[in-house]
Amino acid sequence: MIEVRGVTKKFGKTVSLDNVSIDFKKDDAVALMGANGAGKTTLIRLILGYYHPNAGTISINGMDPVKERVDILKHVSFVPQLPPPIKLSLDELIQYICSSSGVKKERIFHYANEMELDLKPNLGKSFFKLSGGMKQKLLIAISLAKESEIMIYDEPTANLDPKARDNFYRLLKEHEENKIALFVTHRLDEIKEIVNRQIYMDLGTIVSDECV
Ligand SMILES: Nc1ncnc2c1ncn2[C@@H]1O[C@H](COP(=O)(O)OP(=O)(O)OP(=O)(O)O)[C@@H](O)[C@H]1O
Ligand SMILES: [Mg+2]
Repeated sequence: MIEVRGVTKKFGKTVSLDNVSIDFKKDDAVALMGANGAGKTTLIRLILGYYHPNAGTISINGMDPVKERVDILKHVSFVPQLPPPIKLSLDELIQYICSSSGVKKERIFHYANEMELDLKPNLGKSFFKLSGGMKQKLLIAISLAKESEIMIYDEPTANLDPKARDNFYRLLKEHEENKIALFVTHRLDEIKEIVNRQIYMDLGTIVSDECV
């Protein structure tokens, strides 16, 4: 479903990805690991069509992530490493997501509740003003509510308290079937039980890729 072929991405003189080839298929639940600066987020941004590769190709269900970005993003749930600086109130944000991607509002409330985020008293608050963990919980709730074929999480638990982490992994377990799930993580021990593939990156290359 996701095919990355000989992809290189440079920023000035920095080679962030160096001739990377990798496939992700249905039912892959992947822990993507590696030191800071290894190129994990860059790989994910390329898959999401945020960047043009300098060389190589990427295809998602046969589509080009840059040229067919809008179509592809319909099939993808993504929680970024850093929450975006959204000024909308939670109410406005949820309305916007529901109308633009057909997600049911009740489902967002359901998963927010499962993540122990009480949305109702916060609906008038700007997303920007939520605590780091609350932002992350809401983004996770939206990602689960969307029911996508491809789920991508870039260090989603960094701001979560231990209870929220447990809730997140419990919910993911219920969602993994028939999907591609990619988790960027520095904590393999947390995620070990829900992944079936472990990939390590270093200096813009894939140094190991094991099914477990
Ligand atoms: N938009 C950008 N502009 C310039 N350089 C960038 C950009 N994005 C990434 N880089 C560089 O590419 C390299 C890889 O960065 P990347 O964010 O992919 O690492 P990472 O593996 O996600 O690291 P971390 O674990 O710290 O999140 C780094 O040297 C980084 O400075
Ligand atoms: Mg990163």
